[in-house]
Amino acid sequence: MQPKKKTALALRRMKATHERIAMMTAYDAAFARALDDAGIDALLVGDSVGMAVRGESDTLSVTVEEMAYHCRMVRRAVRYAHVVCDMPFMSYQVSAEEAVRNAGLLVSKGGAESVKLEGGAEYADEIARIVRAGIPVMGHIGLTPQSVNLLGGYGVQGRDKATADKLLSDARALEAAGCYALVLEMVPRELAARVTASVSIPTIGIGAGVNCDGQVLVCYDALGMNPDFTPRFLKRFADLHGQIGQAVRAYTVEVKSGTFPDDAHSFAETPVKLAAPVYSNAIQGK
Ligand code: KIV
Repeated sequence: MQPKKKTALALRRMKATHERIAMMTAYDAAFARALDDAGIDALLVGDSVGMAVRGESDTLSVTVEEMAYHCRMVRRAVRYAHVVCDMPFMSYQVSAEEAVRNAGLLVSKGGAESVKLEGGAEYADEIARIVRAGIPVMGHIGLTPQSVNLLGGYGVQGRDKATADKLLSDARALEAAGCYALVLEMVPRELAARVTASVSIPTIGIGAGVNCDGQVLVCYDALGMNPDFTPRFLKRFADLHGQIGQAVRAYTVEVKSGTFPDDAHSFAETPVKLAAPVYSNAIQGK
């Protein structure tokens, strides 16, 4: 049976049916197509694009226009996954009016199907206003990378009672404000389990243990594009950096030795019918 396009409502319902949500980031059409074809539930066009794609040390320089640009590429390629777009730094912090306007731009220009923003109860008004405008909102608490300068780094959050209690009350406030799901980033797994049990919307963890209702990873990290990034929470499900290296070395050898392109990969004056091209042994890993 053909899978159905996932909506924010469908993701929300997955908590009730005890089906875990698999989400990954994507920033362009090629990756989005591959992840969507593999059956991912949701794609997050994260402001992590600043670090993962542009090589910045934080997410703070990413703009609404850039997010819309990346989101549009992802949306074009996707058939089934739900497409969530991050609201970047300073696109919702100044006023509820600006928050609604910028969320609207991510939908109208970027093709986002929902937006995500970082922060707790202090953003309840902005969230409620965006939802009232007809745009589903995913919350994001725990480590909130846009506040890196306030937090002093990218460490685990909620290890003491005061911050753990705040996280729990923030989760409830975001649900009350109208969020359909919640990212929990870098919190102890026991606290993530308590948060998950205390709200009726799904929690999607990154560095938050197995007791969340779903998981999200940055695609380049999960697929092994970034060999220098080795945080404890990250599991690599592929070694794309290694595989690309192997393929490019094989290509370079064939170019330099003059074995590529051979007759099968070039054109004669008189067309001949050839068998479909095959990938080289190097790419097939033989
Ligand atoms: O921007 C991002 O990639 C994120 C995830 C880490 C949740 O917000």
